[in-house]
Amino acid sequence: MIKKTVQEAINRQIINEMYSSNLYLSMASYFRSLNLNGFANWMRVQVQEEMFHAMKFFDYVLDRGGEAKVGEIKAPPFHWKSPLEAFQFTLKHEESVTDSINKLAALAIKENDYATNVLLQWFVTEQVEEEANVTEIVERLKLAGDSKSSLFLLDSELKARVFVPPPANGGQ
Ligand SMILES: [Fe+2]
Ligand SMILES: [Fe+2]
Repeated sequence: MIKKTVQEAINRQIINEMYSSNLYLSMASYFRSLNLNGFANWMRVQVQEEMFHAMKFFDYVLDRGGEAKVGEIKAPPFHWKSPLEAFQFTLKHEESVTDSINKLAALAIKENDYATNVLLQWFVTEQVEEEANVTEIVERLKLAGDSKSSLFLLDSELKARVFVPPPANGGQ
């Protein structure tokens, strides 16, 4: 049986992951409005990844005999000044998610909850990848500067991204 403190913290993280999913859906809409359909595609894949994260936590709480709650999710912003600003916003957001994952891991260790700690190791690794992927795009956008052709080249690269669900027990 999962401890109440850990359950509540994971339930807060489920909201955080669902907010992330909505934030990226909002960004997909923004990029479509700019006719940057490759960026929009990248964001739509991100939406699926974040829902996958939320469900991973959700199922985990249930598997441990706890109560997984669906909480209130605040509305994300819907407009950014430029693709670069949107990706800088994304990077800041992912850094804050990394921070909350680290805090959760610290709580699991404090509560001697080894199973939750193992689950969180998967998320710790995932956040390294998330930050690296977003940082790469931020840097590519900075390099592109005002060059429309560089922007469209990056857009066509991002069109190729597809959602690949990790194996059911991957990393656990
Ligand atoms: Fe996530
Ligand atoms: Fe993320």
